[in-house]
Amino acid sequence: MGKDKLKKFAKYKSFPFCYENLSFDQPQLIDSQNQAVSIAGQWKPTLGVALGDLILELACGKGEYTVGMAEHYPENGYIGVDIKGARMHQGACFVNDKKLSNAAFIRSRIELIEHFFSPGEVDGIFIIFPDPFLRNRSASRRLTSPPFLDRYRKICDPKATIRLKTDSPELYKYTLGVIQKQKLQIKYQIDDVYAGQCSLWGLQEIQTFYETMHLEAKRTIMYVEFNLFT
Ligand SMILES: C[S@@+](CC[C@H](N)C(=O)[O-])C[C@H]1O[C@@H](n2cnc3c(N)ncnc32)[C@H](O)[C@@H]1O
Repeated sequence: MGKDKLKKFAKYKSFPFCYENLSFDQPQLIDSQNQAVSIAGQWKPTLGVALGDLILELACGKGEYTVGMAEHYPENGYIGVDIKGARMHQGACFVNDKKLSNAAFIRSRIELIEHFFSPGEVDGIFIIFPDPFLRNRSASRRLTSPPFLDRYRKICDPKATIRLKTDSPELYKYTLGVIQKQKLQIKYQIDDVYAGQCSLWGLQEIQTFYETMHLEAKRTIMYVEFNLFT
């Protein structure tokens, strides 16, 4: 790791609202004091959420949705998850500077997500420009593939929705196929996010690092939100 990344990573680890876990053998969260903590079942009180929702942003990168939504909807709690701490450092600094009490970050593999939350604790999941893993033999690594949906079902409320924003026609089509096969209900399907006005706050207002690059390359941005349970 370069010096700059190491610095960002150390800063990320210093914030009390940033956690990590990298062990498949001992999937327990570690806090900024290097202490093992179990917050599963306690995320809402930890983030000061009384009546609102708990929403995850998976593959959050710099965490633009986590911080943008947390600022706009203070009644909800938002948690960004990614394996790259140096990237999440940007979102973590924002949370720290703005003193947002309703946002947190977890550095881990999304494959471990079921260990960090209790059944039914999560009310919704954003998946924003995930890697599309285009080769067929990598399909099970796609974050909207059946094995990942099964992981989400272990921690999500029956009313939870999955919200995918992508520039990849292949991943979009693949996800629509999974939705159809599993007989899941689509709440919103927008084939071109910027074609007109949009009533879903955040979809046009928040643009992530990857989205900015895709927009510069004039790629079409797609969105689908669907119920996780039938
Ligand atoms: C293309 S980037 C998108 C980042 C951000 N959402 C954006 O729009 O700028 C994909 C991100 O997914 C993360 N990622 C991919 N697979 C992952 C996994 N299995 N567990 C945790 N993070 C993962 C990568 O580290 C990377 O930051």
